Amino acid sequence: MSRDMPKDPLGKPMWYGRRRTHKLRPGRQRLVDDLLPQLMIADPEADAPVVFSPGFGPPQRELRLEIGFGAGEHLSGEAAAHPDIDYIGCEPFINGVAALLADVEQLDLRNVRLFDDDVRLLIDRLPEASVSVIYILFPDPWPKARHNRRRIFQYETLDALARVARDDAVLMFASDHMDYVAWALAEAKRHPDWSWTARKPADWRVPPAGWVPTRYEAKAVRKGDKPAYLSFRRRSREL
Ligand SMILES: C[S@@+](CC[C@H](N)C(=O)[O-])C[C@H]1O[C@@H](n2cnc3c(N)ncnc32)[C@H](O)[C@@H]1O
Repeated sequence: MSRDMPKDPLGKPMWYGRRRTHKLRPGRQRLVDDLLPQLMIADPEADAPVVFSPGFGPPQRELRLEIGFGAGEHLSGEAAAHPDIDYIGCEPFINGVAALLADVEQLDLRNVRLFDDDVRLLIDRLPEASVSVIYILFPDPWPKARHNRRRIFQYETLDALARVARDDAVLMFASDHMDYVAWALAEAKRHPDWSWTARKPADWRVPPAGWVPTRYEAKAVRKGDKPAYLSFRRRSREL
């Protein structure tokens, strides 16, 4: 993927976000050193296809993917509520990864695997038609027009996700940034594999039942903003 997306001199997708802020507390550092390697779904430096370990993922178990999980509230909430479903969380920000690891340990979650790098280094390595739900929640809005190409929700990502999405898979996008919401609708509309599922305003103004809010979402709601929740369905390959 990423033919038009900015690349670094090594040909990897250019990363503009933060990887770390404050130094991790010793307990969190221990989780990063000891637990993270056990849960990593793939080595970011290697280029090999992802092979699921026995008992994780398809074909036996449903697989969901959360891209840019931040501190992981939504991911750990979902994984705890659905122990029969497996989750891959992807987040290059190590303080956020450490926060999620603390939840994984505390809640004894067995159905979570992680990728602590740019999702664009992972998607092409996942098996075709393997993922049933993909979350992109409150992604960085990159509001300046000259930065819009940095947005993770764009045609190229939709292309790559369409390959790994099962027929009828759901791609859930949420944002409080209305320009990004309009952009997401426009990008999905021109993509042949994804269709917006909304039939009435409540379908995009209200989160789905059982929704676990994210940190950015809670912040936006506290400010009085009204996020939008867009749900796209992957068209069947047969049609
Ligand atoms: C604005 S934060 C939102 C975090 C969380 N989803 C929430 O709602 O609280 C966006 C997150 O996406 C992550 N992110 C941005 N680009 C990404 C990429 N290409 N792959 C994986 N994560 C990414 C960032 O590191 C950041 O933590």
